[in-house]
Amino acid sequence: MRALGISGLATVLVATYVGETTAVGFSKTTPQLQTLPPLQQQANIVNAWTEERKALIPGLLRKYNVDAWLMSQREYAEDTVFWALKDGVQFSARRRTTHLFLASPKNGAQHAYSWIDNTAGVWADLRALFAEQQVSDSSPEDIILLSLPAGFRDIFMFPPIAFASGLHAGELDTIADALGEEWADRFVLEPMLPVEVVATMVPSRLPWYHRMMETAWAIIEEAFSEQTIVPGKTTPLGLEWWMRERIQSLNYTTWFQPGVYVLTEEAFPANEPAASRRSGLRASADRPIQYGDLIHTDFGVTALGLNTDTQHLGYVLYPGETEADIPKGMIEGLRKANRMQDIVRENMKIGLTGNQILKASLDQMHSEGIQGKIYCHPTGEWGHSAGTVIGMTNLQESVPVLGDMPLLKNTYYSIELFAEHFVPERNRTLNFPQEEDVYWDADTESWEWVYGRQEEFLLIRTPADEVLESPGEL
Ligand SMILES: *[C@@H]1O[C@H](CO)[C@@H](O)[C@H](O)[C@H]1NC(C)=O
Ligand SMILES: *[C@@H]1O[C@H](CO)[C@@H](O)[C@H](O)[C@H]1NC(C)=O
Repeated sequence: MRALGISGLATVLVATYVGETTAVGFSKTTPQLQTLPPLQQQANIVNAWTEERKALIPGLLRKYNVDAWLMSQREYAEDTVFWALKDGVQFSARRRTTHLFLASPKNGAQHAYSWIDNTAGVWADLRALFAEQQVSDSSPEDIILLSLPAGFRDIFMFPPIAFASGLHAGELDTIADALGEEWADRFVLEPMLPVEVVATMVPSRLPWYHRMMETAWAIIEEAFSEQTIVPGKTTPLGLEWWMRERIQSLNYTTWFQPGVYVLTEEAFPANEPAASRRSGLRASADRPIQYGDLIHTDFGVTALGLNTDTQHLGYVLYPGETEADIPKGMIEGLRKANRMQDIVRENMKIGLTGNQILKASLDQMHSEGIQGKIYCHPTGEWGHSAGTVIGMTNLQESVPVLGDMPLLKNTYYSIELFAEHFVPERNRTLNFPQEEDVYWDADTESWEWVYGRQEEFLLIRTPADEVLESPGEL
């Protein structure tokens, strides 16, 4: 088995980070809810992106020295990559759905073939195609290699990467039997091929990703405001379901249950990200949000085959208070988290592994006197998409396999982290989590925010006289 992260990547491009930027190219105004076009138009938009992605495949096959890529699946047993290549009116594989991509087709053959069949016809077609492509040239190097993104045995297995292990074990047996030893002996595994196919975000996706991100920000701003939160009444759990309904009302969906947490709550220990306490350990979901609470959300939306991932913070002012009354220690905590975001972005150099970026970022953070955790991941097509990860909540030294892949350009990443900061006003160390998505800007060769980043707390304000009028409710 080839060592992951070493094979394949021919060019190592070192990105130069250019300056301090926020929401490059986009105005910094109040985020607006962006509505989606009719379904047929949505399908056309996504299909155009898929065609752009498919056009990249022959070049990627050549980059990874693979002559052909065979992907095959039966109805409901789809390879993970199937979803990244399907047409807008496909809801699953049907019968046996088989795709073949050729790196350098000869004799007028196409770059891509597809079959939807339940007979042996597909195998006869494949054998004929392979034979034709091979005999057309006398060079022994021209043997067609089939890159099967994994199965369960021998060289086909690459279980650590979901995007490179989607081939069903039974389907692998079927293919090997049907094509015969002549071809089965030439199967190779190249995990980075499906990873890069899925990870690469074609530039035309970006305007819609920006709109989706704006929508996510807008929903969070609506949730973390006095319009929605009544201190002493509204619970984190209630707010989470309010957010789910809001997503639904806009005809978006999501890829995870929205999370709302009170970071100042006594039971909330520092040094742990909120997500790790999601199930079971979370006693506070029913505790109403109070004045003086530091609140946190982890929130994403899904549409057009794209997913967003955002974490923002809010502060519940006491009645009559203004932003001048936010505890200074909390402002300092958010500032530290912002500094960590800059450090990670600067260290995200193309070609370095996630683990190298993690170490460089943590070292720099610590040298600046900042404590916290870093756990960034690729995003886009899947919420946690294909590509290297930069730390995980429980793995701050290095992440095996997933952290050993090289960072790819033309991808989206979610910069996810928290700073720890002692807040004198509360006599406690609190976590200040932030999460924002970035995209690779090919022109400036830097990572830019898809929409922006949070530099000020969202505030829940209560007029001074309101509490006196309804003290019974609290
Ligand atoms: C959601 O979809 C329904 C049905 O197509 C449509 O009537 C409505 O206007 C859509 N709402 C938004 C906010 O896009
Ligand atoms: C702050 O917390 C520490 C330990 O958590 C405690 O010993 C100390 O008394 C507290 N200080 C104040 C002013 O409450």
